[in-house]
Amino acid sequence: MTENISAHGGVLINRVLQGEARREALEASRDLPKIPINRWSMSDLELIGIGAFSPLTGFMGPEDYDAVLESMRLANGLVWSIPITLPVDENIARRLQPGKKAALVGEEDGVTYGVMEVTHVYPYDKRREAEWVYRTTEEAHPGVAKLYQRPPYYVAGPVWLLNRKEPEQFKEFYLDPAETRAEFACRGWKTIVGFQTRNPVHRAHEYIQKCALEIVDGLFLNPLVGETKADDIPADVRMRSYQVLLEHYYPKDRVFLAVYPAAMRYAGPREAVLHALVRKNYGCTHFIVGRDHAGVGSYYGTYDAQKIFSNFKPEELGITPLFFENSFYCEKCDGMASEKTCPHSAEYRYILSGTKVRQILRSGQRPSPKFTRPEVADVLIAGLAEGVGVRGS
Ligand code: ADX
Repeated sequence: MTENISAHGGVLINRVLQGEARREALEASRDLPKIPINRWSMSDLELIGIGAFSPLTGFMGPEDYDAVLESMRLANGLVWSIPITLPVDENIARRLQPGKKAALVGEEDGVTYGVMEVTHVYPYDKRREAEWVYRTTEEAHPGVAKLYQRPPYYVAGPVWLLNRKEPEQFKEFYLDPAETRAEFACRGWKTIVGFQTRNPVHRAHEYIQKCALEIVDGLFLNPLVGETKADDIPADVRMRSYQVLLEHYYPKDRVFLAVYPAAMRYAGPREAVLHALVRKNYGCTHFIVGRDHAGVGSYYGTYDAQKIFSNFKPEELGITPLFFENSFYCEKCDGMASEKTCPHSAEYRYILSGTKVRQILRSGQRPSPKFTRPEVADVLIAGLAEGVGVRGS
């Protein structure tokens, strides 16, 4: 077996209760106060439970919360860039007592997904959080808008995961960090580059992935499939597009596809750091950060999500970020290139905005093969025409 990279903080957390312990916890949870959780919180709970958010064992209390906001570290000094918190309204907050347990119950289906040992219930300042995490307090920012809609208290404490929502589709691509680590080891990969995406893989993505793959053993294509904003391409359409792309253009023994079931924060630089740490937990040694990673609109500078990594020593991160400049097809180079490698002027570069690509696809046309592989375009056209894919939209 190949030795895997350490999880963040040294230990891959496992807060999934199974068998008798799970049955007992479920039984006992009936008498506990209930905390309703939405899909976003459910995905955070699951990511804590399966160790994707190692070293977190629960939702953050005020000490970690403040430290993360102000210094991008947990109270114990470990790097962590985005608060992982559980919001509750005043009625619920009043019923919770530090030192006692509470059941985490799906607000849509009433299923008990977890149990929490409550340590803190605390109010928080949304504008302060917005300023630190998103670098803006504007509601036009989708992450800030979500934050402003949250109820006004956070409840904190260690959690146990008792139930998980069954994926409606693509079940085989839902793997826990322990499973992806085992898969990488089984393939004999010692160096693995993680790739985060919330989009179809266009030629620029493919280019930077393959540049990275030239220097490591394997590529972990790890699309985010939790909540995204409404105009992003739905996750199930994307999943089909990734599959045809891999089938036609990637060596099977060098790429592994599995989903990242998290909500998208659109927090740009800070989210890039979180994305890297999470992929380390999934077993990656390297992580791709291209232009405007996890950005939205013009809130972040093109390379801010790369610059932020200079705040940390390599050993504090424990995963190596690989930075890529804006990539495109250049007519003069007659191939894919980037600002770093192409000497020609902008007029030779084939670049489309996300909005423009969606417009072309919605009209039933393929974007140029210089931008998107035809097989991928066909899947996207069909998916958008069907209007399928509520999940992840
Ligand atoms: S993200 O919100 O998940 O970051 P997206 O799926 O578009 O958005 O990007 C996935 C990764 O590819 C990110 O690291 C991003 O910086 C990078 N990327 C996207 N497009 C380009 C491009 N044209 N040139 C260089 N990097 C890119």
